[in-house]
Amino acid sequence: MSKIVVTGGAGFIGSMLVRSLLANGAAEVIVLDDLSSGKRENLAGVGGARLEARDIRNYDAIAPVLAGAAVVYHLAAIPSVPRSIHDPIPSHDVNINGTFNVFRACAEGKVGRVVYAASSSAYGDTEALPKVESMPPNPMSPYAAQKLMGEYYASVFHTCFGVETVSLRFFNVYGPRQDPSSPYSGVLSLFNRAILDRRSPMIHGDGEQSRDFTYVEDVAELCIKAANAGPHVLGRVYNAGNGNRYTLNLVWEVLQKIEGVSVPPVYGPPREGDVRHSQADTAAAVRDLGHAPRFTLEEGLRLTLDWYRHNG
Ligand code: NAD
Ligand code: UD1
Repeated sequence: MSKIVVTGGAGFIGSMLVRSLLANGAAEVIVLDDLSSGKRENLAGVGGARLEARDIRNYDAIAPVLAGAAVVYHLAAIPSVPRSIHDPIPSHDVNINGTFNVFRACAEGKVGRVVYAASSSAYGDTEALPKVESMPPNPMSPYAAQKLMGEYYASVFHTCFGVETVSLRFFNVYGPRQDPSSPYSGVLSLFNRAILDRRSPMIHGDGEQSRDFTYVEDVAELCIKAANAGPHVLGRVYNAGNGNRYTLNLVWEVLQKIEGVSVPPVYGPPREGDVRHSQADTAAAVRDLGHAPRFTLEEGLRLTLDWYRHNG
């Protein structure tokens, strides 16, 4: 039986990936997660998921869990742009030192393939849209720089140590189990919670900034495709987005329409380190990985709202 490990598998995207892997025929998936932002409840009722509560900053603790795996999906991270600005040391430790430990353990443990959760924040504020993998990166926050370093390590571990790696630049992912309880939470988790509570959301700036909001199941499917793709993808970086972009004002309009209510947003100052617009060029992922996102924004928002409605 081949061993599959998801680091960060108790988190928002990781727990959806674990579900998708099991639905695609995996007998067991090992979740390596220190439960710092991830939760056991995210895996509740998921038969076949086995939690190893370990910290990727501790090489000796994680090496035996990763050794011999057919595939490691590396998603464990502190995934917030503003947190990396307000409190950069923990983000650096986890996102760079922890990521190095994961790649090192995968090399020494002869892991078959590593799929790395990179970030579209690597592009920064480029004038040109959509963002294509060939554009020079321009990180605007410690988080973006850290995730970019992870891509470079993925590539170098392929060329220097022969580890099969693929990096996927996730664009703003949303969906069930995204935690809305922190000031650093993803904007759509906060918007979903606010509309259900009939509260105004706080929009940083004028709300005309845009993001390529991508439903979490589409991202999970692409991770699995990256693990199964041919050798032409190795050491490379691909956009993992939907290919569209929506302003925050428009998303709030859609949520009000779905819920049949009118709740004006509150506008505050723009956020430090914020990128203005983000949209993926998905051509390379479609061509090389068979990327085929299935969920429109409205479909994804309806599914997400239903989940929050029934799960607090
Ligand atoms: P999340 O916080 O829900 O998941 C991260 C997981 O990593 C959590 O379960 C957490 O407990 C775990 N973790 C954190 N530090 C750890 C450590 N030291 N050792 C072991 N586990 C640790 O966030 P998410 O949104 O699901 O993000 C998953 C990945 O996707 C991250 O790598 C993030 O950078 C990347 N990403 C996310 C988005 C997005 O829009 N959410 C976009 C681009 C990239
Ligand atoms: C998000 C991810 C990050 C990922 C990146 C890549 C989260 C928490 N962060 O960063 O991991 O690498 O996408 O695409 O998922 N905003 C508001 N009001 C709020 C919160 C946010 O207006 O209450 C605004 C922000 O200023 C920003 C936009 O919404 O303009 C998106 O913010 P956020 O959800 O934090 O995501 P990113 O910073 O894009």
